[in-house]
Amino acid sequence: MTSTTHFGFRTVPEGDKKRLVGEVFDAVASRYDLMNDILSGGLQRLWKAAMVDWLRPRAGLRLIDVAGGTGDIARRVQERVQGQADITVCDINVSMLSEGRRRAPGLDVRWLAGDAANLPFHDGVFDAYTIAFGIRNVTRIEAALSEARRVLKPGGRFLCLEFSPVDTPLLDSLYDLYSFRVMPLIGGLITGNREAYQYLAESIRQFPDQNKFAGMLRDAGFSQVNFRNQAAGIAAIHSAWRI
Ligand SMILES: C[S@@+](CC[C@H](N)C(=O)[O-])C[C@H]1O[C@@H](n2cnc3c(N)ncnc32)[C@H](O)[C@@H]1O
Repeated sequence: MTSTTHFGFRTVPEGDKKRLVGEVFDAVASRYDLMNDILSGGLQRLWKAAMVDWLRPRAGLRLIDVAGGTGDIARRVQERVQGQADITVCDINVSMLSEGRRRAPGLDVRWLAGDAANLPFHDGVFDAYTIAFGIRNVTRIEAALSEARRVLKPGGRFLCLEFSPVDTPLLDSLYDLYSFRVMPLIGGLITGNREAYQYLAESIRQFPDQNKFAGMLRDAGFSQVNFRNQAAGIAAIHSAWRI
């Protein structure tokens, strides 16, 4: 029997999800950074800054930023350490990587096409692994977490920024209204692809809550698992260590 998974609220054959997610990011790549700012009202900048704060990067850090898209996290880390980090931006989507290269030609990072669930690296090579708004798009999250742990050195740090389901009364209804009505409408008007933003809203609802994701990190073998909510839990930063 064919294994299935979710693509937003649709159930699809597992083998199809990568292509469908690829189509979403192909469609939005050229407007991706602009749309992030518009749709989050700039909040995504604060959340990314909070993740980089928690990482506390130092000169010489060897970092892999998975699902790194247009390189926003990589750029922030390099700025913190005055270009002294060794950073690989790995993303499955070539349109997103190309857009990143085009927008930041001077950014000193390695751009690499690769799947979070099958990273093209030997074991134990990175001091830190970051993934921002990426993991909910991966078909098999457990496989991506296992890969994250594998490529980290013992003592290496895992940080993930991701949206979380909101279950605060009133805020949840407002957030639903915004996600399912406003976001696809604005996304459709600016990028011409309403479906991409419908998927983004639905994929947020499918992602496990903070405690469940913490459990998945422990199951993947991570230690000292912890999270910090952002904006009343609309997003969360998850931290864990490979011991
Ligand atoms: C919402 S964007 C986040 C980009 C960037 N991290 C940021 O925060 O601005 C999600 C990214 O995940 C990438 N992605 C989806 N599935 C992936 C996979 N299996 N492996 C690596 N990257 C993937 C997409 O191509 C896309 O660039």
